[in-house]
Amino acid sequence: MSSLKGKNIVLGVCGSIAAYKIASLIRLLGKEEASVQVIMTPESTQFITPLTLSTLSKNPVLVDYYDSKTGEWNNHVHLGLHADFMLIAPASANTLAKLANGFCDNLLAAIYLSAKCPVYLAPAMDLDMWKHPATQHNLSLLKSYGNIIIPPGNGELASGLVGEGRLAEPEEIIAFLQDSLSKGKPLLGKTALVTAGPTYEAIDPVRFIGNHSSGKMGYAIAEELESLGAKVTLVSGPTYLKASEAIKTISVRSAQEMFDACNGVFADTDIIVMSAAVADYTPKDPATEKIKKKAEDFTIELKKTTDILGTLGQRKSNNQTLIGFALETNNELENAQDKLSRKNADFIVLNSMQDAGAGFGTDTNKVTILSRDNAPKNYDLKSKQEVAKDICQLIVDHQQSPINSKS
Ligand code: CTP
Repeated sequence: MSSLKGKNIVLGVCGSIAAYKIASLIRLLGKEEASVQVIMTPESTQFITPLTLSTLSKNPVLVDYYDSKTGEWNNHVHLGLHADFMLIAPASANTLAKLANGFCDNLLAAIYLSAKCPVYLAPAMDLDMWKHPATQHNLSLLKSYGNIIIPPGNGELASGLVGEGRLAEPEEIIAFLQDSLSKGKPLLGKTALVTAGPTYEAIDPVRFIGNHSSGKMGYAIAEELESLGAKVTLVSGPTYLKASEAIKTISVRSAQEMFDACNGVFADTDIIVMSAAVADYTPKDPATEKIKKKAEDFTIELKKTTDILGTLGQRKSNNQTLIGFALETNNELENAQDKLSRKNADFIVLNSMQDAGAGFGTDTNKVTILSRDNAPKNYDLKSKQEVAKDICQLIVDHQQSPINSKS
């Protein structure tokens, strides 16, 4: 799958003769199914019209803070906050100087300054301007801010001179972006489902049976899978945590709601991590009104909830990776081994209540991971983020060479 598919790109265009190449670049980005919002500097409109670029990008082109038609002052800096990345092509020597020094006298520079996303700069200028120490100094400043430079080409320039400074060809820009975006993203194109947090099982409208799960482990796994390129759905029981916007979060309360949400996405999911602390039992007949205290003794009849991990395990296909968790107090390894085969999981992440710093509520965890083919592996006490990295590394390896685990 193209690493550009579905990406929201803010494309900044500066005043340079190379601006004409941007029409082809936008068409290529459209073919990759990326969505493009063009921002032009006022000077660039002398080289190519906003009408051309808005027609090709299927979006209105923004040039000024002030919309002369509506008479409104529009603050579009939010574009840089929500884009997957920003690409400035062609990036003129003047714009590079402004960005390197924090000037902000046009809309493009203002969006750049407030952007939180990666920024790619594709410079275009005459060879002597490119070589000048001022330009090279500005480029090193921009690199030091984390911006990524798409190197200009070598060839005939608009001035008639031959040398370095030509805007990279649109196909080269696309190839550079594809390569850069897929680096360190071994799960690009994969889908993942993660459950996290506790479930609350209603006794009556104001009371429930729950547990102390904070959801921290599951949220850390969801974030790590997302950063490795997977498209993540997080089904979360009640927690105070908030996942990043790139993760689709479905909030649920009960085990039944969690099962329904998982069931809805399971078939189209490559990676399934069940880290939620799901209640094993739920009140058989929750009261519709608040229960009043009358008798000395009070009994709640419980029934089993659906075993989400076990049910999905039975439906699992060979190219899906399924991970369950086990929190044990005794006979840890034996119980976890049994869980691995009973639930048809590929891995079981075992937490022992006997390990200090592991389990519910803490920021750290100490796990042993059991797999179908290898001996259990013990990990040190680590932050939940680092544990998430260990778990996700196993997922990457498993996805790259799936084990035929359905017996
Ligand atoms: N789980 C689940 N659905 C449930 C209960 C648990 O998906 N109704 C998942 C949890 O998310 C976790 C694993 O199963 O990944 C934990 O299993 P656990 O409840 O400990 O396993 P059981 O063997 O069913 O229970 P027990 O240890 O009590 O025998």
